[in-house]
Amino acid sequence: MSRSRCKTAILISGSGSNLQSFIDRVAEGSINLDICAVFSNRQDAFGLERAQKAGIPTACIDHTAFDSREAFDRAAAAELDLYDPELLVLAGFMRILSPWFVRHYEGRILNIHPALLPLYPGLNTHQRAIDAGDTQHGTTVHFVTEELDGGPCILQGRLAIRRGESAEQLKDRIQAVEHQIYPTAAQLVADGDVTFRDGRAFRDGQPLDQPLLIDFPD
Ligand code: GRF
Repeated sequence: MSRSRCKTAILISGSGSNLQSFIDRVAEGSINLDICAVFSNRQDAFGLERAQKAGIPTACIDHTAFDSREAFDRAAAAELDLYDPELLVLAGFMRILSPWFVRHYEGRILNIHPALLPLYPGLNTHQRAIDAGDTQHGTTVHFVTEELDGGPCILQGRLAIRRGESAEQLKDRIQAVEHQIYPTAAQLVADGDVTFRDGRAFRDGQPLDQPLLIDFPD
């Protein structure tokens, strides 16, 4: 991607703890992204306060004011494009994206999903992993395509599920992993070390058929 600091817009709908991890990593200098804007579809998203406190421009458009998904997405993109973002980071942005939006930013949208994709796309991932008797669980940073939670995977963080652990406890531990891996994965894309072409991810020009994986000790 760019040689200068990659202009990165972060899209949120809620708490924005992942957004905070990007803000903190930029502040400490361990990633080198220019967070050019934070966009929300909800005015009450706490992440907007986090952004304002960090001096990052914010924008909010209420999706309920639009007749169709694509109409909202076009308005969102018109707002986002004022900041000329090179990369879009979905961080708890609770909207399914229209094909138009995905194509508009093709290969430049990242998402983090709280499961070891392709396991457990969709919602309620922690409980589903526990109910299945899985011994491991994790979270995945992936490129966004038109298939929900189906784009090529970049980086996964994995940990062991503890005996008797609740979905809530597991969620907290998974979120701590997300805060470590998501900024790192975004930097790989910003630096051009990981790229997207024809629906696939590449690392240093080679197909990345298995995502990079970091195991987190208990
Ligand atoms: C994250 O846990 C992520 O897995 C999911 O949405 C959650 C957002 O949390 N996509 P936060 O708003 O970053 O705290």
